[in-house]
Amino acid sequence: MDKIDIEMLVRRHLQELGVGVGSSEKKEYIVAANWKMNMTEKETRKFLTELKSTEIPENIRVMIFPPYPYLYIMKEMLRYERIAYGAQDVAKEEQGAYTGEVSAGMLGDMGCPVTLVGHSERRSYYGDTPEITAKKAKAALEHQITPMLCIGETLEEREGRRYEGVLKSQLDAVYEALGNRMGECLIAYEPVWAIGTGVIPSLEQIHETHRYIYQVLRGYGVSEEDIRILYGGSVNAGNVKDIASVKYVDGFLIGGAGLKADSFKTIIRLASEVS
Ligand code: 13P
Repeated sequence: MDKIDIEMLVRRHLQELGVGVGSSEKKEYIVAANWKMNMTEKETRKFLTELKSTEIPENIRVMIFPPYPYLYIMKEMLRYERIAYGAQDVAKEEQGAYTGEVSAGMLGDMGCPVTLVGHSERRSYYGDTPEITAKKAKAALEHQITPMLCIGETLEEREGRRYEGVLKSQLDAVYEALGNRMGECLIAYEPVWAIGTGVIPSLEQIHETHRYIYQVLRGYGVSEEDIRILYGGSVNAGNVKDIASVKYVDGFLIGGAGLKADSFKTIIRLASEVS
């Protein structure tokens, strides 16, 4: 066996163990900011101006999820950029008397390419059950919008070792609605207990959980190349490289650290350096 083969085997073995290893071809990561109910119009414009002043590395796909009123600013200011924008939520209904809702048709109409569905804040404060979330994902896909499906367990569910069942039921509901279109979803694993707390799971826990989600998706028949699992919950410049080196982590959904262009740009740069 020549040297190249041995290197390849060692690399493959290390990757199976979840250990990040250098490669000439850099892994691609999605780095997404969920602004939640933050920012003003002025701050939005300033953030985008600052973000546009740096080159986005080839192996990074950037996405920003602003509040609805700022989607048009994104559309206008990001026209020629490699930066995507998306909505934080979408109505499950097609149209009609649903005061306060925004339909997938409307988002599609303005060219919005992606939307979050099932964020834990939607699930816990606004009653978005797995079934409602599934309908939202379906509505999005019907208008050629990619759903970024957020899933995650509470601390109680983690400590009670029930998290796999919880994640599976959140995924199952969406699979039931989407069937063979499940592979068109991006997945964001966000443990509720890590959101906004400064606490992150251990790298081992992230590895195990992402691997579990990966296996569930493979079980639905989703092909390997279509699986993208982002991690979210207290990601910052200090931990992004470690998390990025974990196998089955394909990107990040960032809250607090995505509100300032400076820290977001640092995270983008650090993620781009991991291979
Ligand atoms: P934080 O990064 O502030 O913990 O928020 C994560 C999140 O909920 C992103 O959707």
